[in-house]
Amino acid sequence: MTFIEKLRCLLTFGQGVALPLPEIKPNQSPFDLFQQWFEEANKSGILLPEAMSVSSVAQNGQPSSRMVLLKSFNEEGFVFYTNYGSRKHSELQQNDKVALLFHWNILQRQVRIEGTIEKLSVKQSEQYFHSRDRGSQIGAWASKQSQKLSYDDELKDRVSHYEEKFAGHEVPLPNFWGGLNVKPHYIEFWQGRASRLHDRICFEKQDQCWQQFKLHP
Ligand SMILES: Cc1cc2nc3c(=O)[nH]c(=O)nc-3n(C[C@H](O)[C@H](O)[C@H](O)COP(=O)(O)O)c2cc1C
Repeated sequence: MTFIEKLRCLLTFGQGVALPLPEIKPNQSPFDLFQQWFEEANKSGILLPEAMSVSSVAQNGQPSSRMVLLKSFNEEGFVFYTNYGSRKHSELQQNDKVALLFHWNILQRQVRIEGTIEKLSVKQSEQYFHSRDRGSQIGAWASKQSQKLSYDDELKDRVSHYEEKFAGHEVPLPNFWGGLNVKPHYIEFWQGRASRLHDRICFEKQDQCWQQFKLHP
């Protein structure tokens, strides 16, 4: 990269291109690479680097996306928590194909993940639910996520109802709330570079093995 290109990148929100590109070994694990990028995103000062878009597709073919928070990941997948009565989960129950997207702007990095969804066990969901603050636990009971409010104060009234109901007790895990694991079969790492000559390093799971290849930007 020339000095002028570097300067342009640094001054135009393109700090990422001045970073060295990751060294990709032939047997590179996409999960190790994700871990490395996730740590770098955490260190970069980006607000909520764990925020990711989740896309589902309704039965009529209409896709929809929304942000959620990644709560854990390992070779088994990427986990977030939600209401099982929500639009996203209803759609994912009908069609378990799902896409995740991370964008770490200051690093000029994007990670695209495609896979299928599965529910976490009640035990796993319970463990996470009880690690949350009480207000969020009551909130999970009170919110009929994705349903229309019947009247303006409905949510406030429902919060009061559940605060009263569980006063002095541990708030139990609602049976309509818990974790979803995205089991990936495709993970793509995108690194912004000067002159739009970006790097795209892709991993695709075939016969239980991860194959890697690069794509034109
Ligand atoms: C940064 C951010 C993080 C969010 N995290 C979650 C989350 O972890 N789980 C969740 O159910 N909704 C989360 N939401 C709200 C969702 O984007 C969405 O509004 C909600 O889940 C209802 O979506 P649905 O009707 O498509 O199911 C988050 C929103 C933002 C902006």
